[in-house]
Amino acid sequence: MNDAPVITVDGPSGSGKGTISRMLANHLGWHFLDSGALYRLVALDAQNHNIELDDEQTLAERARRIDVKFLSEDPQREPNIILNNEDVTADIRTESCGNAASKVAALPAVREALLQRQRDFQQLPGLVADGRDMGTTVFPNAKIKIFLTASAEERAKRRHKQLKEKGIDVSLSALVKDIAERDERDGSRETSPLKPAKEAVIVDTSAMSIDAVMDKLFSLVTESLPESS
Ligand code: DC
Repeated sequence: MNDAPVITVDGPSGSGKGTISRMLANHLGWHFLDSGALYRLVALDAQNHNIELDDEQTLAERARRIDVKFLSEDPQREPNIILNNEDVTADIRTESCGNAASKVAALPAVREALLQRQRDFQQLPGLVADGRDMGTTVFPNAKIKIFLTASAEERAKRRHKQLKEKGIDVSLSALVKDIAERDERDGSRETSPLKPAKEAVIVDTSAMSIDAVMDKLFSLVTESLPESS
């Protein structure tokens, strides 16, 4: 049995969970799973091969065999993501790939196909797993379950700022609408909808700085896993 401890960090996009969970993994010196990247890769692969986003069986078959590498030279930074020997780090972060990922993620056979691949990340000394169903479905026995959230407006503002920094001009109201639609799709699907595990600690980051959220998580980890500090 694999007894490497797991901390799950679930929540909607824009809740700060990507940044926060990566920082937590670095702080602990643990492995990191960006499960959203896997759904984004399945979506990108589908787009590259003209596969319809509702062709569940084909998508699931490809998800099971997809050739992905996360190459991490500097643990402080996002790894380079390689799909079939091609660097797709930037391609999977576009709005269109995020929307397509949300569609393929609604298909039960795709989720099933990615399940073992995600569980393989559970290795010593420990894993921080970032996603939507990490605490509910993928790692139900995780030692610590965190659910980060923030209002749709605040999440849209954060996304707007990020895109602006990259020179991409999108209207704030379009982003609010987009985020609300994606929340609805991720939260209402039948398989593994976005919802907190019943034992999860819910942290609303709407009015919190990254440092304040990190302080809160560090104290949670120190209380629950004193051996890690
Ligand atoms: O976290 P992200 O924005 O990279 O995720 C992309 C999409 O994948 C998102 O719309 C929801 C889906 N997803 C999921 O359903 N389950 C996960 N564990 C992670 C992501």
